[in-house]
Amino acid sequence: MLCIGIESTAHTLGVGIVKDGKVLANEKSMLFEYGIHPRKTADHHADVFPEVLQAALDKAGEAIGKSKAPSGSLGLAKIDRIAFSQGPGIGPCLRISAAAARAIGATFGKPTFGVNHCVAHIEISKHATGLDDPLVLYVSGGNTQVIIKKGKYYRVLGETLDVGIGNMLDVFARDLGSRGVERDGAKVKNARDIEMLALKAKKYVPLPYTVKGMDASFSGMLTHAQRLAGKETAEDLCFSMQETGYASLCEVTERALALTGKKQVLVCGGVAQNKRLQGMVKEMAKEWGCEFGVASNEYNADNGAMIAYVGTLMGRTRALPISKCVPIQKYRTDQFGI
Ligand code: FE2
Repeated sequence: MLCIGIESTAHTLGVGIVKDGKVLANEKSMLFEYGIHPRKTADHHADVFPEVLQAALDKAGEAIGKSKAPSGSLGLAKIDRIAFSQGPGIGPCLRISAAAARAIGATFGKPTFGVNHCVAHIEISKHATGLDDPLVLYVSGGNTQVIIKKGKYYRVLGETLDVGIGNMLDVFARDLGSRGVERDGAKVKNARDIEMLALKAKKYVPLPYTVKGMDASFSGMLTHAQRLAGKETAEDLCFSMQETGYASLCEVTERALALTGKKQVLVCGGVAQNKRLQGMVKEMAKEWGCEFGVASNEYNADNGAMIAYVGTLMGRTRALPISKCVPIQKYRTDQFGI
């Protein structure tokens, strides 16, 4: 089965094509200048959609052509089903993938499926790592959750009580950037800059550490770090934010591990690309005798392939009528069964 997946929950417009569990194409275009401006980002997604779609169709055609003639671009008429990221995400951005799915679905008469973005990150990571029943730490800009699967649905055992850890790091990076802090000659602006600056730190600066059961909170740490900016070096603050924030994530994940007795730990989502977080969770998992897994950055960053992949897993009867192909902005992980 050939499924096309369209992703546009936040800064990335992605189009992926999956055939029977194999990713044939995973094309994308991202806009992240200084945070995410909803309207400008949605305009970007609408502008680049035709070229990203064409690039994905070309790549998939090429991949199929290698094993079976004829090669060349894949026509949309050959696609069996369409999947789009239905939520959670930023309203104006989400509307682009929903509108694209409606248009392609109606034009070519193909079944169209709404996919939960968070579940897509988990499912593609399980597929890529081979873990089948992991405790999941899902960390991104908008989401921070500790999750297990129960039957068809995922269950959220713990989550952030305020902002996502990625959002906290992005906000602090922009704050440093507005103070003139640079990395490689450009103003720092995101969590990737924080990770790089942290490597040059000389000392740890104590910051508020907030864990309540299996939930965590990050806004107090952000406020405190913002107050210390200018008094402590940017490098030391970046290092300390990572150490404090990631330690709290390890604590809530470890507590969930003790509760559930799971034997596998999976980290996924945008912040899962951070090497320090990967190392800390891996170490903790090892101490518990658990298998650790993290997918490649291609799947932890937002992408269309994960949406297409989940589209191939969904039962035929879950196809949505065109009128229901609309965004669900606050679509929770535990509301989508698979
Ligand atoms: Fe994501």
